[in-house]
Order: sequence, then C-alpha cells, then structure tokens
Amino acid sequence: MVSTERYLVVEELLSNNSIQKEVMIENVAKAIEVEQGFDENDELVGRSPPTFFSSYHRLDEIHKYMKSLESKYPKLASTFSIGKSFEGQDLLVLKIRSGKETKKKPIIWIDGGTHGREWITSASALYIATKLLNEYDLDANITKLIDFYEWYIHPVVNPDGYEYSHTTDRMWRKTRSWTVSLIGCRGVDPNRNWSFKWNYGGSSISPCSHVYSGLIPFSEPEIKAIANFIFDRKNRVKLFLTLHSYSQMWLTPWGWTHEFPSDYEDQHKMANVAVRALRSLYGSIFESGSTTELLYTASGGSDDWAYGYAGIKYSFTAELRDTGKHGFVLPSNQIIPSGEELWIAVKALASEIRKEL
Ligand code: ARG
Ligand code: ZN
Repeated sequence: MVSTERYLVVEELLSNNSIQKEVMIENVAKAIEVEQGFDENDELVGRSPPTFFSSYHRLDEIHKYMKSLESKYPKLASTFSIGKSFEGQDLLVLKIRSGKETKKKPIIWIDGGTHGREWITSASALYIATKLLNEYDLDANITKLIDFYEWYIHPVVNPDGYEYSHTTDRMWRKTRSWTVSLIGCRGVDPNRNWSFKWNYGGSSISPCSHVYSGLIPFSEPEIKAIANFIFDRKNRVKLFLTLHSYSQMWLTPWGWTHEFPSDYEDQHKMANVAVRALRSLYGSIFESGSTTELLYTASGGSDDWAYGYAGIKYSFTAELRDTGKHGFVLPSNQIIPSGEELWIAVKALASEIRKEL
C-alpha cells in the first residue's frame, strides 16, 4: 500500500528497476468508507434503516448481539466462553440446539474471524446463526435439519486481532501476543499455530512474518481453546468449517503437503455439494479442491488438524467473497448476499452429510 504523497516515488522506483506493477485498489481510504456503508451520497439519498447486517461491528457489539439471540431464543440458543484471548477478551461461542440435553447429537462447528482483517467471515458466521434461529419452526425440512445436529458458531476466533484491525491497522491478520522479536513485532498467525504438521512449510519462524507459526504449537490461547473444545467432542463433530476471506474457494485438506488424503474423493464431492448450492443463488463461483492444489502450501492450519489429528473427515476452509476487487475490505452491502449464499451452502452440506450418518 502506498500513500498519495509517496506514489510517484514508488512508481519511479519500480519502473527504474523494471518491476511490473498493477493497481488493485485505487483509493483504500475510500474503499474503507464504502465498506462501512458511509458514502458522500448518504446525506443526499438518506440511509435505509440500520440492521445488524448492514455494517460491520466491533467485538463488544458482536458479543451483545450473540447474547441478544440467546435471550430471544432461550429454548434454542446459548452463549458460553471457551476461554480468554491474549488480551483477555472472551472467546464467545453460540450453541444452537433443540430438545432435551440428554441425547448426544452430531455436531457442526463453524468459525470465523481467525484472521483479524477478514471481517466478512465473522459477519457471515453470525448470519448463519441468525438464519438457523429465525428459520426454526418455519419450514419442516429445515427444522428437522436443525434438530438433527448440535450447532456451534464461533464468530471471532481472534478477538484481539479483529479489534486491532478496527482501531489501528485495517490489514492486521495475526493475534496480538508478544513474541521474541527484538524490534517489537507482535502476533502469531492463528492458522499456522495448530499442532498437526506444524511448521512443515508455508509458515515462518520469524516473529515479524504475517505467517509466523509461534514458538510452539498452540502457543496462542485462542487456538488452544478451540482445539480442546473440538478434541473433547471429536467423534461427534461431523463438519468442521472455518471461514476465511478472500478468494471464493471451498478448500479441502491438505494444506501442508501436495499429496492428497485418502478421503479426498469424498471430501471433494462434499465440497462440490457446497459450491453448487452456493452458486445457485447469485451465481457466485467458488472453486473447490485441496488447499495446496488451489492456493498454496500452508501447514499448521485448523482444517488439517481437524482432519489429520481429530479425524473429522469433512473439514473445510471456505474462502468467502470476493476474488480481489475489494479483497479484505468487502463493502458492507455484500454482507447479506454473502451470508445468504453461504447459508444455502451450509444447509446443503448439513443435509448431505446427514445421509451418511
Ligand atoms: N487463507 C488461509 C490461510 O492462509 C487458507 C488456509 C487453508 N488451510 C490450510 N491448512 N492451509 O490460513
Ligand atoms: Zn484467513
């Protein structure tokens, strides 16, 4: 990213060294305004009545919203904390479950906000939670599907990084923990910190890197908390879905090697169920395939751990909108459409997986 003042200098530097350049986003400040739904035309046209999903929210508002769902749907929803972030924020999870607690049900886990700047993923996770609750008892088929599973939605895996991306650096990705860096670099990449094939490639041992794996696996309390939670229930977890942005991809394991896992055929088929359903609404095209095949090698990710260590066959990373026009700074008027298409995909997955149980 280059400031207006430095633009010509940088441009000259690049061309002097015959480095090709391409402008991805002309005006980042403007893009951020549009992302939040503020626009100079607002005063003229008047803004539509605000709803939760018409803009992105700070952590405290997200927590308030989760608790409001709990009070609005006391028979279905409950919130609880699985621990504290490095800076002491609650790691708040929403559980959605119908009926008496006695029966053990298969589990669907969905998380977002692993990387601070990927705001659309937290918004989308909350959107799914809202849909599950709103649509319960409206449509018999959806109700049955909701009844069948126990749902856990963890919208902000990395609260400190999320807040930092709101207050200080919109492009912040990592956690905010202290590192061994002598020049003060902070944070670990939470998706390089899982213990399975930790540091096998696509991660860095340098604390200043965006993909710093941490000193040891599970050094980050935010990640250790999820790992414990999932591992305690590993035999019941039938879908592990972690939301990232951006790229529009439905990724299957592995991320750590170019080899394909033995379940690849099933996993890929299931990923296709998701992307086909997703496309049916607005035509958004999501590619499906393994992480190394479609993206890059990256070890220490949650999906690889959920599959490779916890044995959860359907373990996916979904890279949500868009394909790069706005990138991480996705305008807030895309929250609802993005949530809607993801909701269709999640429903299709849940019902397809159910057939195998
Ligand atoms: N963009 C995600 C990341 O870099 C992709 C993760 C895919 N899964 C993996 N195990 N590498 O964290
Ligand atoms: Zn990410």
